[in-house]
Amino acid sequence: MSGRNPYIDTPAAEPPKKSYSIRFTGEEAGGEMTVKVDPEHLPSKHEGEPGSILQAALGAGIEIDHACGGVCACSTCHVIVEEGLDTCPPASDAEEDMLDLAPDLTPRSRLACQTIPNGEKNLVVRIPGWKRNLVRENH
Ligand code: FES
Repeated sequence: MSGRNPYIDTPAAEPPKKSYSIRFTGEEAGGEMTVKVDPEHLPSKHEGEPGSILQAALGAGIEIDHACGGVCACSTCHVIVEEGLDTCPPASDAEEDMLDLAPDLTPRSRLACQTIPNGEKNLVVRIPGWKRNLVRENH
């Protein structure tokens, strides 16, 4: 399932036009895993904006939490873009509002479902070990 939050009026960034890779680090990535992103074969059946970091991760079997379904209504998909952040468009006001709810926020923090790299550089993305997912924490 994929969709867009109808309350966000900022258009999403264009999906990447060039191939690039994302090196995910963190427990969910099994320590470390590099994912190739091919603009001709984006994993579009997953949640999150088309071409987003979340879609790339889910397409490679990396289970980043995404409690709201990738529509910018939670902060469970919080990731830290350690390298290549300059190839990602700035966060929208809606993304900033949700990021404020994320624990361990850094200046390089983004929501994986909203962040669409342009493919000009390879990325290094850290998945924080502890995230706020009230659904999971209550079980
Ligand atoms: S999955 Fe909820 S904001 Fe990204």
